[in-house]
Parts: sequence; structure tokens; C-alpha cells
Amino acid sequence: MCGIIGFVGEKEAAPILIDCLKRLEYRGYDSAGMVCIDNNSLIIRKDVGKIEEVDKKVNFSELKGNTGMAHSRWSTHGKTTKENAHPHSDCKDEISVVHNGIIENYSELKEELVKKGHKFSSETDTEVIAHLIEDNYEGCMRGALTKALKKIEGSYALGVISSKKPDKLFAARNESPLVIGLGNNENFISSDVPAILNHTKKVIYLDNKEVAVLTKDNVEIFDLDNNKKDKKIEEIEWNVEQAEKQGYKHYMLKEIFEQPQVITETINGRLKNGDILIKDEIDLSEDEIKKIKRIIIVACGTSWHAALVGEFMLEELAKIPVEVEYASEFRYRDPIIDKDTMVIAISQSGETADTLAALREAKKKGAKIISIVNVKGSSIDRESDSTIYSKAGPEIGVASTKAFTSQLVVLYLITIYFGKIKGLLPKEQIVNRIRDLRKLPLQMQSVLDDKEYIKLHAKKFYKKTNALYLGRGINFPIALEGALKLKEISYIHAEGYPAAEMKHGPIALIDKEMPVIVIATKDNRTYKKVLSNIEEVHSRGGKVIAIETKGDEEVKKIADHNLHIPENSYILTPILAVIPLQLLAYYIADLRNCNVDKPRNLAKAVVVE
Ligand code: G6P
Repeated sequence: MCGIIGFVGEKEAAPILIDCLKRLEYRGYDSAGMVCIDNNSLIIRKDVGKIEEVDKKVNFSELKGNTGMAHSRWSTHGKTTKENAHPHSDCKDEISVVHNGIIENYSELKEELVKKGHKFSSETDTEVIAHLIEDNYEGCMRGALTKALKKIEGSYALGVISSKKPDKLFAARNESPLVIGLGNNENFISSDVPAILNHTKKVIYLDNKEVAVLTKDNVEIFDLDNNKKDKKIEEIEWNVEQAEKQGYKHYMLKEIFEQPQVITETINGRLKNGDILIKDEIDLSEDEIKKIKRIIIVACGTSWHAALVGEFMLEELAKIPVEVEYASEFRYRDPIIDKDTMVIAISQSGETADTLAALREAKKKGAKIISIVNVKGSSIDRESDSTIYSKAGPEIGVASTKAFTSQLVVLYLITIYFGKIKGLLPKEQIVNRIRDLRKLPLQMQSVLDDKEYIKLHAKKFYKKTNALYLGRGINFPIALEGALKLKEISYIHAEGYPAAEMKHGPIALIDKEMPVIVIATKDNRTYKKVLSNIEEVHSRGGKVIAIETKGDEEVKKIADHNLHIPENSYILTPILAVIPLQLLAYYIADLRNCNVDKPRNLAKAVVVE
């Protein structure tokens, strides 16, 4: 999961490449590099570190030329060293490659190439591509690239330039995202759309096993059998500002604060006169919906937590049994899927390799796939029978926030829609549930308005080394998500647990050093039991921070600290309860001077297994 960018045009490539590459840094940031064609020679600069650090060391902007590529690396094959940083070149330094993905048969290929006399200078899988192209070159770069690709097994988004064809930029993709941007007398390749939005809003999504040849005023796309492809040009709706920080210290903070607006967008146009209008987005007839006997939801990370909330919603209101699966596990089992099983894939990026593989496995077994995806045109979007977009806009912070709450809203919409089709939800109930949903943006805003109060709590706890998050029922996944947010960005060890399970293990960890964050919102199900759990923590000296319903006096009496959320229907509380946990994690990480938007070892889109 690296970031790649390429440019061919009339302007100097380097400044444009740096600008775009910085926007891709969330995809990987252990080393960076750039190559430009200057006077028919490839000039490469690269080193270890974040893009700015590398730029300071090697001064990318000194590179001259109108054709170039840049790369931000997240190591998979080969340590994080200057030699392993991209771009990689062939023996004669005439062909240069940037790559995102994994070449699975690289060691066999490398062995063959070494036997033929090729000299390798890195430990990466990527370098074999440069040598393979060199090996197959007979005067035509596209021909050589195509021949090389036919020998490669694995995933790739590739950018290739050659000093033999200085006015051309070549690209190819298989299983890793790559988009082509069409500008005015300039064209781009990029791992994602936001990186090039400053330059163009017109894009072509490259499909698997396609090769593109870009010049400044032309783009041609071929399959691996040399057939020319006619591709649709898409117009991007996101604007540049949506992808920028807008004065916030970090993208993550901006994205947390965008949530009321995001939720408004997510429900916009999907509700009317007390009805849910997602019929056109779900490619299932009413009859097919009535026949669904079981739903499997596959996802990873934060999206997996959304799936757990979705399980609760769908079982309670649409009365359909739901299983939630880690996509990475699901794909390697032999899951039982019959014609009455529906599969929902949830993914912010739409590119998570495990979720994509799980989707394909389910599809192979005949399941219909509905996806909840944030990035239009992403692989999961394109490979699903239907997609309901979460409409969160570009999410840049590696730790997911607004995408999560928008996924929950989409799951709620699907739930009500299915419940209605199945005749389980009378009109009046639907109207009430929609009314509750419409309350959310203002209620979310009121939680965000408490930011200073939440920050005060962060100041009390930011030096701790462990934290326990407890929740029950529909808020258990929120305990998991709260813990995940904290560990991802602050590196504090944190665990989420169902509150009642605490007595079977985690209670042994509790002492006066252990902050315990308990979601103790008022309901007529497990609220009283959660109060007992708080007492159990308290009597062992643990410090309880309770997320409680505004106005609740009972929790106040027994918790050490109280953060509030407004009252809404039980099934919507996760969407509110997660916000103080996001903010708490953010402020703690910031107080610890952590790199909030780019936490160590993590990447925004994990496009490798
Ligand atoms: C990575 C990200 C997480 C995200 C997960 C799943 O681990 O760091 O924030 O939740 O991937 O990503 P997806 O794009 O499929 O939702």
C-alpha cells in the first residue's frame, strides 16, 4: 500500500509530483522517491523517511523534465532502506518503475533474470518488473510492458517511464488501485483521486490487467491482448477543499468535526415523506429481499466494527440472522453460502485486499453482494452487484472516523428498508425512526461542542499506558472502536470488552492506574447491569470515565468522570457514543505528540493481504 503518482505534460513535473505525492502519504510513509526524464536521461532521487524529510535531504524540486513519477513507500518486500525505496530501474538505468502491490512470483522471476545476467540493486519485488521490461524490450515499450505483465503474478498499480520514450508515461493495474487524470495538455496517474484534484476532475479508472499509455495530450488503454479499450471518462464531484485540512491541526480532527455534515449528506435524497429511498441503489427486487434468510457482513478494522453494529440493527428490526466476519478469515474458510444468503461488504476505501478477496469468494459461491463503500469507482464498488455509497467525502486521516458513522447510517437505512419490505415495520414506526435519524446531525454537533471538556479529560489520562473500554449490546462494538482509535493513534495499549465479560478476565487488570471507559447510556435493557460493572471497577480502584445520556444522575453518582451524549433511540446511540471516544483518542494522541494522521506502521488502505 504505497502511493504512486505520475505526470506527463508541458510543465515541470517535479513540483506537481511533490504536491500530489504529499496527498498520498497516508498510504505509506517510510520512504519516498522521484524520477524525472531530463535530457533523455532518468534522474532518480530517493531516501528513507517521510516525504518532507526526504525532500529536505534530496531536494526533489531540483529535478528537471516534463515527464516523471513519484512514490511513497510502505515496506512489504525488503527492509526500509534507500536502495529499496522506489523508483527502481533496469540494468542500464533506462527504464524506471514505481509500484504499489505485491509480485508473488518475484523470486522465481528474479532467479531467471539473474541467470540471464541482470544486476539487481534492491531486495524488492518491484525491481523485477524493471528488469523484465528491459528483457522484453524490442523497440516498443508498451509491448515490453505487456509481455512483462503476462509473466507477473500478483497485484500491481504500476507507473513506468523510459528515457527511450521521454514523452510517454505508461501505467498498468491489477488488483491495486490506479486512476488516470485527464488535464489540459497534461495527464496523470495516481493511486487515488484526491491526490490529483488540484489539477483535474476528469478521470478514467483503470481496470485489472489494463495498460495505459499517456502522452501530454492523449491517453490510450489496452488489454494484455493488445485490444484497444474504450473507457468512460468520469467527472469527480469532490472539490479540493474537501480534501484539505481547512484550518484544523490534523485531518482526523477535521474529519471528526465534519460528521454532522457528512451524516446530512449520507441521508440526503434517501429519505422522503417518511420513506427510505434506496430502492434504486440496491439491485434486489422486493421478492428477493423477502427471501433473504441470512446475511454475512465482511469487513476489516473500523468497518468491521460498523458491521457488528449492523448485525444488531438488522437482527432487531429486519429479523434477518446476521454473521459478521473478518474478511481476512472468511476468505480462507469454506464458508457456506446458499442462494438465500446475501453478503454485505463494508469498506471505506473500497480497496482493502482482504475484503475484496472475501467478496470474490462469496460471489464465486453465488451470493449477491451489496457493498457500503466510500470511494466511488474503487475495486469493491465495481465488483459488487450494488453499492450504497457512505458519502463521507475523502477521508485522509488513517484512523477512520466520519466514514464509520456514515457506514452506520447506511446500515440503518438498509435495515429500515428491509424491515419495511418484509412488512415488519409499520408506517408509523418508520416515520418515527426517520425522525430519530434526522435528529442526529444536531445531536452530533452538540457532542462536538463539548470538545474542551473532552480535552480536559484527555489531559488527565494521556500519560497512562493502558485503557479498558466497556460496552454492551449495540454499544459493545463502540467499545471496540474506542479502544482501536486510542491504540492506533496514541500507541496506548487499549482493549474493548463486553462489560459483562470483564469479570472473566480483564477485571484482574484493574487498579488505580487503569482508566476504564464505560459506555453507560440509558436504555431499558442492560443499563442497570452496566451500572453494576462500573461499581465493580470502582471498588477495585479503577478510574471510570462514563459516556452517559445527558441528564442522567445515576451514573454521575458512581463514575469518576462523565462525558455526555444526547438521548436518541437505542439503535442510534452508537453514532453518538463514538464521538466522545474519537475526540478523547485524538486529544490524548495529540498531547503525546503522536503523528495523528499518519500513525506508525499503519496505512489508510491496506491493499495487500
Ligand atoms: C486500515 C485502516 C483502518 C480501516 C481498515 C479497513 O487498517 O487503517 O482505518 O478501518 O483498513 O479499511 P476499509 O477501507 O476497508 O474500510
